[in-house]
Amino acid sequence: MLWLVFLSIMTDNKISFIRKDLLALNAYHPTPISKNTNLLTRLDANESPYDLPSEIKAKLASVYEQEIETNRYPDGGHFELKKTIAEYVNESANLDNLISVDNISVGNGSDELIRSILIATCLNQQGSILVANPTFSMYGILAETFGIPVIRVSRHESDFSLDLDEANKAINNPNSLPIRVVFVVHPNSPTANCLTSREINWLKELPNDILVVIDEAYYEFSQNTLVKELASHRNWLILRTFSKAFRLAAHRVGYAIAPNNIINVLEKIRLPYNLPTFSQLAALTALKNRELILPSVQEIMTEKQRVYENLNQNKKLQVWVSSANFIYLRLKNNSNAENHDQLMNQLKLDQIIIRHTGGGLRISIGKPKENDKLLDKIAILTK
Ligand SMILES: Cc1ncc(COP(=O)(O)O)c(C=O)c1O
Repeated sequence: MLWLVFLSIMTDNKISFIRKDLLALNAYHPTPISKNTNLLTRLDANESPYDLPSEIKAKLASVYEQEIETNRYPDGGHFELKKTIAEYVNESANLDNLISVDNISVGNGSDELIRSILIATCLNQQGSILVANPTFSMYGILAETFGIPVIRVSRHESDFSLDLDEANKAINNPNSLPIRVVFVVHPNSPTANCLTSREINWLKELPNDILVVIDEAYYEFSQNTLVKELASHRNWLILRTFSKAFRLAAHRVGYAIAPNNIINVLEKIRLPYNLPTFSQLAALTALKNRELILPSVQEIMTEKQRVYENLNQNKKLQVWVSSANFIYLRLKNNSNAENHDQLMNQLKLDQIIIRHTGGGLRISIGKPKENDKLLDKIAILTK
């Protein structure tokens, strides 16, 4: 009985000190992880299907045991990690030291950096953000937790490029808070398309009082980067992450690359010890051993092509070409939320987990056997 009274106190929603707009928001619910994850075919989060190579794991374990003092705070400046990231970024974009430590800020996942960007630009009714749907949901979700207005424009269904007329209208709308950030993903999630040269030219023309954030979370898969453009566009910032091709989603490491005056502001905002020592070490070790880690990208892309060709032959599905490690599709004739949900849930009965998002289904590329299982099951369910 007492327990019931306690429960009713705990669930009674009299928390009038909380902002009303927050009470109306739903929390982000990632797929629950059960103890038996090895029984699941997890194709829902665009992670790499491959754990770290065992020799790197062993190296990390031994450094943890012998060198890390758990009683000490982490390196709050991330100096060595930033230096190594800068080298990697220069190498990846064929640049002669354009990027230095002063151009890098490291976050607890790129999610943390997105949040810092929002604080730096739009908080206190200073501005709104523009996104083109469907796209990565965290820009909008995080903005809404700050009460920052999110202007959503559409994409052309043929290739999922942005509707630039709609975007221009939104930017020039005198009746709303000025747009301070445009978020784009290159290649986009969930639709897996890279920015077109028309879109890139449009971004180049945006006025200097708008920050252009180009999220290159899937760069290693697409091999398309706009890092070179940072030299001539001082209002651009590029986000990257170790959660995908580097196989380190468990460690939550992302980074921003930008002119140093923007980086200085992000550094003011971030928490002093935002990245645990072990995560810094994991990212650093992964970078230094990238010749052992990144070859899996090619394997995943070969599998991606095989999965794409198979699904593309299915007359019930509309499948889009992908520049990333995932594939986006819709049911052709019954393209409504209910039918997509139904297909997703039928796959779930066979322990195959995919994502229903943006009006379609997003399927991450798994190991060959996982992809076989998915393809067999989809063929049966769409017969
Ligand atoms: C476009 C995009 N950006 C960022 C992230 C999140 O990256 P992180 O794990 O570094 O927070 C994701 C994760 O799915 C993503 O799809």
